[in-house]
Amino acid sequence: MAADIRCSTATLASWSGDALAVGLFSGEAGASGRSALDARFGSAIADQLERRRFKAKPGECLSLDLLGQSPNLLILVGLGAPADFGAEQLRGATAAASKAAAAAGASQLGLAMPIEGLGAEAAAGAMAEAVRLSLFADQRFKSEREPRPGLSQVELLGLGDAAQGAVTSTAAICSGVELARELVAAPPNVVTPAALADTAAAIAREFGLELKVLERADCQALGMGSYLAVAQGSDLPPKFIHLTYRPEGSAQRRLVLVGKGLTFDSGGYNLKTAGSQIEMMKYDMGGSAAVLGAMRTIAELRPAGVEVHMVVAACENMISGGAIHPGAIVTASNGKTIEINNTDAEGRLTLADALVYACKLEPDAVVDLATLTGACVIALGEEIAGLWSPSDALAQGLLDAGVQGGENLWRMPLRASYREGLKSGLADMKNTGPRPGGSITAALFLQDFVEPSVPWAHLDIAGTVWSDKGRGLDPAGATGFGVRTLVNWVRSGGPA
Ligand code: BES
Ligand code: MN
Ligand code: ZN
Repeated sequence: MAADIRCSTATLASWSGDALAVGLFSGEAGASGRSALDARFGSAIADQLERRRFKAKPGECLSLDLLGQSPNLLILVGLGAPADFGAEQLRGATAAASKAAAAAGASQLGLAMPIEGLGAEAAAGAMAEAVRLSLFADQRFKSEREPRPGLSQVELLGLGDAAQGAVTSTAAICSGVELARELVAAPPNVVTPAALADTAAAIAREFGLELKVLERADCQALGMGSYLAVAQGSDLPPKFIHLTYRPEGSAQRRLVLVGKGLTFDSGGYNLKTAGSQIEMMKYDMGGSAAVLGAMRTIAELRPAGVEVHMVVAACENMISGGAIHPGAIVTASNGKTIEINNTDAEGRLTLADALVYACKLEPDAVVDLATLTGACVIALGEEIAGLWSPSDALAQGLLDAGVQGGENLWRMPLRASYREGLKSGLADMKNTGPRPGGSITAALFLQDFVEPSVPWAHLDIAGTVWSDKGRGLDPAGATGFGVRTLVNWVRSGGPA
């Protein structure tokens, strides 16, 4: 069970319960926090901080047992210098404190954190998000669940009732992130194309959204030769999933979220070999998990004035006698012919038809998310997703939404001259260019399937979808990356 999180008018001086966590600034700036601690707990605390060389660096965490008292555990968390303080530092410190409290077996936690320059609502939202997302644990695949007492009650000290609304909408955001994490973490024999369609159906049922699932024959009728070429090697049928949220009253904007939904990517006949992490390719549906998670949150929050569509061309990339040959030429639903010079560049083939379909909805903007290239992982690592867009306004809107949600995006160039690399002697284009700049040519490939009049952005989340060790708000494993950025972007109204 997720902890009950409330804003509270209690303070560091008055709160009682199991564990009290106090955020401290480093250096001179920490003096007032330290004197507040002195005032309540006496000077022994200051002596401890000195002796244990607590410097209040960001993420630094020190737990002190106060035997027989209430609170009986005092957790001190570093916030770094006040000049660097913001929502990101607040999230990090809150996550560290929550993990320390849960590890110590506390059931109630009081969080006394500064909210300088943030405003009560933003601070409350950031803290609530950090508590819940950092303590998330996935035990679905254990035959016996470990007993995990966890936190039952968390109080955000010094934040009056006015901020409680932000805590409530954060719960919907966290449910979306958790759904995305569960989808990504689940193995490929559980999360199949049909399971993604079932997930969309469950969201549609629970929140009253419209759902259309196109079967293979329906996709054939629409001419989706590019997507179906990827799907044809699998024993599992493809599912083209279209989920729609319509607001009460009229909509001023129509937005489409597209997610790559490869429930397993073996590479096809360009088979993935040792060192290519084939056993991790269950997470190749991370884009679809992010858009499904975002739709769940949007369906619960019901923002006004904006219609949101989700499109996922789900399938597996497998090997069989019926699988597509390297060198095959296929025709996408916009009539373009593609020479498949590498069957492992399959994500863009599925997205091609999904983007053509998305543009036919006549949207104000299309955003796609995909674990598209290893090259993006090499370029930006595990903490930053790549962002490509011909539209400065759309790119900026997404960058802002990312900052607000604590997800890092970095804008990359859609350098037109690199499209040369995708030229084919026989067909309109190849699906794979040279290795250098591989994430850029992938984005340029996608651009060929987007109507030039439709503002479009592409996010390559290959690096950010999974965290081996865990960090900050992300436990080890699936991160649910993209949900918060998308939800914030949609709530801001989409493109300017
Ligand atoms: N799903 C992979 C990309 C990927 C690789 C995601 C590593 C996460 C970690 C994608 O389908 C793929 O195989 N891309 C190829 C493209 C190449 C053949 C042009 C790649 O990146 O190697
Ligand atoms: Mn691949
Ligand atoms: Zn892939």
